[in-house]
Amino acid sequence: MIKAPAVIPTHVSLIMDGNGRWAEERGKERVFGHFEGVESVRSVMETSVELGIRYVSFFAFSEENWGRPDAEVNTLMNLMFKAMENELPTFRKHDVRFMVLGNREHLPKNLVATIDRVMKETEDAKGLTMILFLSYSGKWDILQASRKLAYDLIEKPELGVDADIFSHYLVTDGIPDPDLLIRTSGEKRISNYMLWQMAYTEFVFTDTLWPDFRKEEYLKALEEYASRDRRFGKIK
Ligand code: IPE
Ligand code: IPE
Ligand code: MG
Repeated sequence: MIKAPAVIPTHVSLIMDGNGRWAEERGKERVFGHFEGVESVRSVMETSVELGIRYVSFFAFSEENWGRPDAEVNTLMNLMFKAMENELPTFRKHDVRFMVLGNREHLPKNLVATIDRVMKETEDAKGLTMILFLSYSGKWDILQASRKLAYDLIEKPELGVDADIFSHYLVTDGIPDPDLLIRTSGEKRISNYMLWQMAYTEFVFTDTLWPDFRKEEYLKALEEYASRDRRFGKIK
């Protein structure tokens, strides 16, 4: 049993950063940090289930990350493939709905097939929704939404454009905007993550490297969130 924070966010998002440095500190190849980081994902997912959080999302791979050396990119793609293949029983056990969002264009075919299968097999789950942002960037999302909306406006000019309509064209349609963003490893930037969706998100930064970010650290960040005063531009 854990002591639940007084305020539980609906959607928590995490920028999992510092895997490479974690491995380098141990004199190992960067990929070891990625392997160990999978355990942190599991820990955050299970704690989220325990606390009754509705949505948890992870920035797993940015569009910019394609610019890393081929060997690291390939290892990351294989790691994601294996993790998704292996985790289906865990998703079932916890009634987790699993989703992957991002630009699928450059993803390996076998990975796309696995993503589709796991998403299909968990689509009716009623518990936590767990989202992996893969080959995602905030600017890409805004651009793909703008293109689709522009086409629709040619056919139906009466549709108009406002923030609510625009939101429906983002890949996050139907998912509440993040209440809390946690970024590990001491970096304090958004790195082209959900730019539109984070207009009013609370940010928590920690120096802990992602492979060391487990239940205790997660609870600490949630406590910090519970102490924040969210005003959304208004006054009390
Ligand atoms: C985060 O860890 C994982 C990805 C971005 C895929 P990094 O690989 O960025 O680790 P550092 O920041 O180099 O330590
Ligand atoms: C952000 O981490 C992207 C992910 C965690 C997937 P990076 O390590 O790529 O970010 P920068 O380059 O330090 O901004
Ligand atoms: Mg990094």
